[in-house]
Amino acid sequence: MGVWKGRAGRGKPVQVDLERLPRHVAIIMDGNGRWAKRRGLPRQAGHAAGAETFRTIATFAKELGLEYLTVYAFSTENWKRPEDEVGAIMALLERYLREAIDRMARDRVKMAFFGDLSPLSPRLLELCRQTQEISKGYEGCQVNICLNYGGRDEILRGAQAFARDCLAGKADPDSLGGQRFAGYLYSAGVPDPDLIIRPSGELRLSNFLLWQAAYAELYFTELLWPDFTKQELLKALADYQRRSRRYGGV
Ligand code: IPE
Ligand code: IPE
Ligand code: MG
Repeated sequence: MGVWKGRAGRGKPVQVDLERLPRHVAIIMDGNGRWAKRRGLPRQAGHAAGAETFRTIATFAKELGLEYLTVYAFSTENWKRPEDEVGAIMALLERYLREAIDRMARDRVKMAFFGDLSPLSPRLLELCRQTQEISKGYEGCQVNICLNYGGRDEILRGAQAFARDCLAGKADPDSLGGQRFAGYLYSAGVPDPDLIIRPSGELRLSNFLLWQAAYAELYFTELLWPDFTKQELLKALADYQRRSRRYGGV
């Protein structure tokens, strides 16, 4: 507790007040392909390096005391990529989840998934189910992995589910408010992200948490995701702590 003063790895020391951390940090894990290209490696190698960065950052998030970390791993649009790249990403996810299950008793990180998991292979689906099941009682940071996730898709599904409840007489269109509607989203029960980080230099959300991002603070960095470090997360948190959130007020 108190203040994190100093550096995590190389770079200038940063100061982060651990009493004023954002409750929920979300990250668009982008830039794996360019990281690999710069090294003359296949894109798959970038995804493998990105998975390692994710492991480091998820563990650090728990150490720092963040309540929620949500990461964008595969979007509803990422199926457009060549089959071998999609296959490699899915294989990496499988490997990652198997290893996560092996380390679970030690790491005790609670994991959940946002997205339509139905098109995933039965093996991957089963691993998602197991990770969620084993870790559901863990305290501390909850890591949400967005898999086949799209913000628009999420909102449409929420609207459909709400419409079905109306037709079944379980809900009333006139009484729908934002809070109630949020209960129909993948993120039901999770507070909105306070801070969204996008590495790789792109200045867009790419269909990430469109509903939930309404008042999120945004942090962009040129670093590619595999080069992202604990130090960079601390920098983003320090930057967040210098901002004034007004939510439309004064
Ligand atoms: C993010 O890295 C990972 C996924 C989208 C699955 P990219 O693969 O998009 O990397 P760049 O943006 O091409 O560098
Ligand atoms: C967003 O990155 C999706 C993930 C990081 C999983 P993309 O690389 O797919 O986004 P665009 O194409 O640059 O907008
Ligand atoms: Mg990209």
